[in-house]
Amino acid sequence: MAEAMKGWKRTHRCGELSAANAGENVTVMGWVQKQRNKGGIIFVDLRDRSGLLQIIFEEGDCGGENFAKAERMRSEFVVAVVGTVERRAGAVNENLATGEIEIRARETRILSEAETPPFPIEADSKTKEELRLKYRYLDLRRPDLQRNLMLRSAITANIRRFLTEEGFLEIETPILGKSTPEGARDYLVPSRVHPGTFYGLPQSPQLFKQLLMCSGYDRYFQIAKCFRDEDLRADRQPEFTQVDMELSFVDVEDVIDVNERLLQFVCREAIGLEIQLPLPRIRWIDAMNRYGSDKPDTRFGMELRDVSETVAGCGFGVFASALENGGSVRGINAKGQGAMPRKKIDALVEMARGYGAKGLAYLCIAEDGSFKSSFSKFMAQEELDRLVAAMEGERGDLLLFAADKDQIVWSVLGALRLELGRQMGWIDENRFDFLWVTEFPLLEWDEEEKRFVAIHHPFTMPMDEDLQYLDTDPGRIRAKAYDIVLNGVELGGGSVRIFQNHIQEKMFEILGFEKEEAYNRFGFLLNAFKYGVPPHAGLAYGLDRLVMLLVHGDSIRDVMAFPKIKDASCLLTNAPDVVDQAQLKELGIMTAVTESPEA
Ligand code: AMO
Ligand code: AMP
Repeated sequence: MAEAMKGWKRTHRCGELSAANAGENVTVMGWVQKQRNKGGIIFVDLRDRSGLLQIIFEEGDCGGENFAKAERMRSEFVVAVVGTVERRAGAVNENLATGEIEIRARETRILSEAETPPFPIEADSKTKEELRLKYRYLDLRRPDLQRNLMLRSAITANIRRFLTEEGFLEIETPILGKSTPEGARDYLVPSRVHPGTFYGLPQSPQLFKQLLMCSGYDRYFQIAKCFRDEDLRADRQPEFTQVDMELSFVDVEDVIDVNERLLQFVCREAIGLEIQLPLPRIRWIDAMNRYGSDKPDTRFGMELRDVSETVAGCGFGVFASALENGGSVRGINAKGQGAMPRKKIDALVEMARGYGAKGLAYLCIAEDGSFKSSFSKFMAQEELDRLVAAMEGERGDLLLFAADKDQIVWSVLGALRLELGRQMGWIDENRFDFLWVTEFPLLEWDEEEKRFVAIHHPFTMPMDEDLQYLDTDPGRIRAKAYDIVLNGVELGGGSVRIFQNHIQEKMFEILGFEKEEAYNRFGFLLNAFKYGVPPHAGLAYGLDRLVMLLVHGDSIRDVMAFPKIKDASCLLTNAPDVVDQAQLKELGIMTAVTESPEA
């Protein structure tokens, strides 16, 4: 083993060889995918991150010693082979990029042996994710994960290339920062030198990138690790990566322009996808009205319709009282689903309840034109006919209605629309629907805290025409904020920033911060603005989400090398874990939990 690499140099990756190399002497190295001993001839499929390659050992060519080594080879042994590229004598393997050739081995070295892995190393693994994450280093040998991570690398490289050519500077900002909880919970790191104090890990480089604008670095970007202690889902990790940028002397259009070209460049270079510019845009209010979502999946129709006016004054109390309380009645038309069995409709009603609805009213239009409905008995035939017409209902359709406050109606119908779209197979998986959502509301009323909270963050600039409402009616202010959405996933978001202190102070006031508290938390930014600040704006993408969507993945875990599971733990390393009492003492920390979580 000491001589493992002595005198040998890999000449090719397995997948790089083809019939064009026939006759060449090559040295390849990799993992044994499979060894088949046919008596006198041994075939070995050798694997590396570029693909598979067939090696053929015949005793006559390689001699007894090498043949004996081939006999010993088992799956996942790491081996090196010197041999000649030949066209296959046997059948060509159409499923393999290197299927026309094989390597006739002359010499071989076993570089390391392997125990039988706990699951097969293969694409489309059927193995439970938990087991795969525990042995992530084996999981990462699988070709689909290797392809994802190679593509991720290509995407990052192209982002760097594009932004650098556009005059952006890559600048790193600190990981050990100040905790400024607004949004998700912060991860905290105790300070040893200043006992009782904590750093906060950044949820994003937001404040630092704004400071960089104050300092004159007019175009900044960073591939930045961000940390958010929030509930995890398929597209959320506690630690994730942003492609973060900020620009000076710009407005909304400038940010959108450079980002559209960035997306076009990256899609073209990394996956050969041609996207047409300009990308479609939709105002937030229209996105909500049409799709019930601020990140609409526009790959299929079934848009929401507001039927409040149509049902105004009708006999159905549920509709009437929603309207009386300032809400709305809206519906979706699930085309051709009029014969949906009651059980399935009940499941949709349950789902609607999960989104906060008090119920879900339905109307099935049978093929003979008759109605089957949960509310028709409360309405006159003529009222029903008008409602069906407003929904463009035809024979065989299923109409679903929600009546409540707008927010609830939107979220219920938005979720049902997606669920039905999925169930019915109406979503074309080969489409990439990019979409800008603009004109977000600036603020949202938090019923629990009885105060406004910033929808994007407190540094977002109101739209020029809405500045007049800062004092009188902050709830109606729209923001210079934009999200970029791909196939119903929020890929990125950003805004034009407030750069005038009087507006920023007003914002903090609206958000319920005392001036002192605002300065305490964000004083360094407010002070910086006193010394000459350019108008600036920016945006950040979730890199993990971008890669996930471009590889058609279901989860961002599939495009991260070492992801965490739902409870934010790492199955491979067992993080987070208890630490020595001595370590805690040094940090001046006493924990209320004394048992380790497993105990
Ligand atoms: P925002 O909070 O919208 O904006 O985050 C930007 C993008 O980061 C991704 N993202 C996540 N990805 C994986 N796991 C998470 N937990 C997670 N949280 C967010 C999303 C999101 O669109 N500083 C601002 C940007 C700006 O204004 O310039 C910011 O962080 O894709
Ligand atoms: P009820 O009179 O409460 O039995 O409701 C009659 C029908 O209206 C049932 O199908 C309920 O699911 C539905 N429903 C109740 N509340 C709502 C609501 N807020 N929006 C839409 N449908 C509702």
